[in-house]
Amino acid sequence: MGLFALVSLVTGMAGPSGFGSASTAEQVTEGIDASNLTAVITGGASGIGLETARVLALRGAHVVIAARNLVAANEAKQLILKDNTSARVDVLKLDLCSLKSVRAFVNDFNALQVPLNLLINNAGVMFCPYQESEDGIEMQFATNHLGHFLLTNLLLDKMKNTAKVTGIEGRIVNLSSIAHQLTYPQGIRFDNINDKIGYNDKFAYGQSKLANILHANELSRRLQEEGANITANSVHPGLIMTNLMRHSAILMRVLQVFTYLFWKKVPQGAATTCYVALHPNLKGVAGKYFQDCNEMKPSALATDEELAKKLWDFSEKLVNSVQNN
Ligand SMILES: NC(=O)c1ccc[n+]([C@@H]2O[C@H](COP(=O)([O-])OP(=O)(O)OC[C@H]3O[C@@H](n4cnc5c(N)ncnc54)[C@H](OP(=O)(O)O)[C@@H]3O)[C@@H](O)[C@H]2O)c1
Repeated sequence: MGLFALVSLVTGMAGPSGFGSASTAEQVTEGIDASNLTAVITGGASGIGLETARVLALRGAHVVIAARNLVAANEAKQLILKDNTSARVDVLKLDLCSLKSVRAFVNDFNALQVPLNLLINNAGVMFCPYQESEDGIEMQFATNHLGHFLLTNLLLDKMKNTAKVTGIEGRIVNLSSIAHQLTYPQGIRFDNINDKIGYNDKFAYGQSKLANILHANELSRRLQEEGANITANSVHPGLIMTNLMRHSAILMRVLQVFTYLFWKKVPQGAATTCYVALHPNLKGVAGKYFQDCNEMKPSALATDEELAKKLWDFSEKLVNSVQNN
């Protein structure tokens, strides 16, 4: 993080976009009419995803909360409707650590027969002890990256079609993290993604968050090559105390005591996602990384185009191998 980003984070001072770490999701979307947009938000039942869903709905968007816990998702929907009775919110089941569930979600979504303008790949898990997904893939990589990789691919035709018919730019936002900088030395462990012995819960999270950026970058390159009217970008939302910390609650509380100036509340935490998803300033901007509502430079690994292509091929093979089992 550069000096300006650090000062801006602590003081809340606005950057070139006119917004900064103190800006809330409501502030960065003020005056924007999203009533002609439909958005899918993964993990929209809690934390940053819920605030993103609430604010997009406030701006008029039809919001589809994709969640593995339908009770929590329906409670989130009621919470949004309580203050905004005209909000358009639907809830659909999605468990990202099951590729079968990802496919079932896309079938359910297609059955709604609605367009799709915005895909917010927000859901995530952090620092969990070594576990494998239903498909036998290390859990943080499977949930944070691979599930979203397949989900995005399966929704892409719908998004391209929507953008073509409406002339409105589609946008995909991947929730990454500053933690993408803290990964295994090689970035992504292509040769040993399921190495239980060498597993490090922090590096595995960093690896999955690096994958989120590489995925957005390679996706945006492919979309540009095709001439599709869709952008893909990634964001670091800031540090916000949410359920994400469930595997590291004590560590995070201690860390927060020493770094309290760097922490945000949830309304600020959803600002960068909402800014990148809705703001007219970012028309045509793709393959970039944002923090505190301003473009930032991610790590060298995150801007490695060959690594991004390699991850794309690796992810495709992994998805196909599960399909063929
Ligand atoms: N909070 C931070 O400081 C911070 C910092 C950097 C990046 N981020 C990123 O921001 C995103 C949102 O995190 P948050 O802080 O808002 O945490 P959160 O409140 O725990 O939200 C994460 C959401 O993802 C859902 N989820 C987890 N596994 C899933 C699965 N297999 N299928 C479907 N949904 C699943 C969770 O559902 P359940 O409740 O059912 O688990 C939850 O609703 C994450 O991608 C995270 O990596 C957060």
